[in-house]
Amino acid sequence: MTQEAKALTPERFHQVLLAYCGSKTLMSAVEVDLFSVLAELGAATEEQLRRRLNLHPRFARHFLEALVALELLARDGEQYRNTPLSEVFLDRNKPSYVGGFAEMTSETFYPAWGRLTKALHTGQAQAPQPPDDDVHLFRLDSTREPERVRRFMTAMDSHSTRMGEALAELIDWRRYRTFADLGGARGNLASVIAKAHSHLTGVCFDRRQSQPFFDEHIERLGLAERITFQAGDFFSSPLPEADVLVYGHVLHDWGPDNRRQLLARAHDALRPGGALVVYDRMIDGTPTDLNRLFFSLTFMLASAGGSEYSVDECRAWLREAGFTSIEHHAVLDDHTVVVAYR
Ligand SMILES: C[S@@+](CC[C@H](N)C(=O)[O-])C[C@H]1O[C@@H](n2cnc3c(N)ncnc32)[C@H](O)[C@@H]1O
Repeated sequence: MTQEAKALTPERFHQVLLAYCGSKTLMSAVEVDLFSVLAELGAATEEQLRRRLNLHPRFARHFLEALVALELLARDGEQYRNTPLSEVFLDRNKPSYVGGFAEMTSETFYPAWGRLTKALHTGQAQAPQPPDDDVHLFRLDSTREPERVRRFMTAMDSHSTRMGEALAELIDWRRYRTFADLGGARGNLASVIAKAHSHLTGVCFDRRQSQPFFDEHIERLGLAERITFQAGDFFSSPLPEADVLVYGHVLHDWGPDNRRQLLARAHDALRPGGALVVYDRMIDGTPTDLNRLFFSLTFMLASAGGSEYSVDECRAWLREAGFTSIEHHAVLDDHTVVVAYR
């Protein structure tokens, strides 16, 4: 062994290897709803938490201490409490709750990542595929588990609110009067854009089972006059007529042929002078771009053809669809917005 090799330690290797323990500790803490209980109680001892959450004494202490070490809980003496971050984002009873991502990750993505080696050899998804029916949303039965669907939508809204604010500034909306968000879920992105530009009216286009969630969300926001829901399938139904169409976090769920089809359909639906907006965590070729690579692998594991993709690929598909003027912008730390003009 050379002197240089002798000076190496396996510390980095251990750090990477154990990262899944931290992830799963967080997922389970969200699943047992620890943070909401602490938000309600203010602070609690291990014994109080064991009783309230039905935690086995063999695991409870070190589980809670691991959360303290992860800076997701704080401890004063025997009392555990939420950190400011956990209090805001992990209490189910607050509108700022993002734990729906952790619930989805624990149930679907984490088991799928456990089969990564198999996926590497077969190229196949390792998560149950979304059944093609009028009931399921995000692999959840929306009629039997509406609360879980709502919690996941709330988590998605934490992104779409910030993306809506970014798009409200990025696009010159004075040129347009109407827009439609294709795969717009419960209409949150549309609501943010409509609030920022009072002359606009918008359509949220999604599968029929999203409508009850749209209705309650848009009613609560008081925007039912300006944002409407259009049920349909973006592969086969007529797309809404609008000056601007948006595909946000949609292309990453599908393979290249489906993406080409979606972009061509949007091009055909737009009037000359209209614009198509696409956003995803596009890969920009930076090797340290770990977040986007992890998201990409997650979509590969979770869907038959999905993955993140590069800006150049997106530009090529758009040109193929007929768009000639295309620009792109980096937004929200790890996202790219591509705007194509017809
Ligand atoms: C990952 S979510 C993205 C939601 C939102 N655009 C965002 O950025 O947060 C994908 C959305 O596409 C919708 N969707 C999936 N397949 C669809 C289809 N064939 N036609 C219309 N909408 C579809 C889903 O119901 C879901 O709301």
